[in-house]
Amino acid sequence: MRIDKLLAGLNFGTRTEIKKDIRAGLVKVNGILIRQPDYQVTPAKDTVSYRDIPIIYTEYEYYLLNKPAGYVSATRDNVYPTVMELLTDTVRPDLFPVGRLDVDTEGLLLITNDGQLSHFLLSPKRHVDKVYFARIAGLVTPEDTATFLEGVDIGEAAPTLPAKLEILSIDADSATSEIRITLHEGKFHQIKRMFQAVGKEVTYLKRIAMGSLVLDESLPPGGYRHLTAEETAALKEHMPL
Ligand code: URA
Repeated sequence: MRIDKLLAGLNFGTRTEIKKDIRAGLVKVNGILIRQPDYQVTPAKDTVSYRDIPIIYTEYEYYLLNKPAGYVSATRDNVYPTVMELLTDTVRPDLFPVGRLDVDTEGLLLITNDGQLSHFLLSPKRHVDKVYFARIAGLVTPEDTATFLEGVDIGEAAPTLPAKLEILSIDADSATSEIRITLHEGKFHQIKRMFQAVGKEVTYLKRIAMGSLVLDESLPPGGYRHLTAEETAALKEHMPL
């Protein structure tokens, strides 16, 4: 494979920019400076560095991040730091978060450069389960559970899809509740809007699972790790080839 194609494919720049950088002597292969944009490399065998940063070439990468509050689920933002800034030991410029958690929501976020898997997991047709833990201001009732199971009017054209609401604990003194909720879709601020519709307020929200992927509770907020091969395979299990 041509070195300029490899680097452009990893989004280090446009093909023209990369060619210029190669000619300027910014790229080494197996420690030796090369200046030919058509220089042939074997990604699995050769060690390539760009501006002296070693490039680890695997086609796709998958990270499980425990998102802390205060970070936005995007690759760029003008106001908040992005979740991408938490991934400090990868130089891949083509990673992105799969779906969005609100800036104050914590928990499981998959970060990858696999557009096909992202599309599959987020497709409204697939109804991939998303499980959240939440603290609620207000006493959640069995009637709320029934309402959520029927679908809630949150001001959109159609009510929400049936959601499973489990009451974990209720504290009558502080009038607060802890719940687990399973959604099969991902509308903007969905859980907050569902509780608003029944007169309550979400005060803390954390995603604990998406499809087969479960938050690794040993990751501190802001911590991340590669998915295991088993986790990746399980996520892709029903993906069309
Ligand atoms: N529902 C919300 O209200 N916020 C999130 O971040 C995710 C689901």
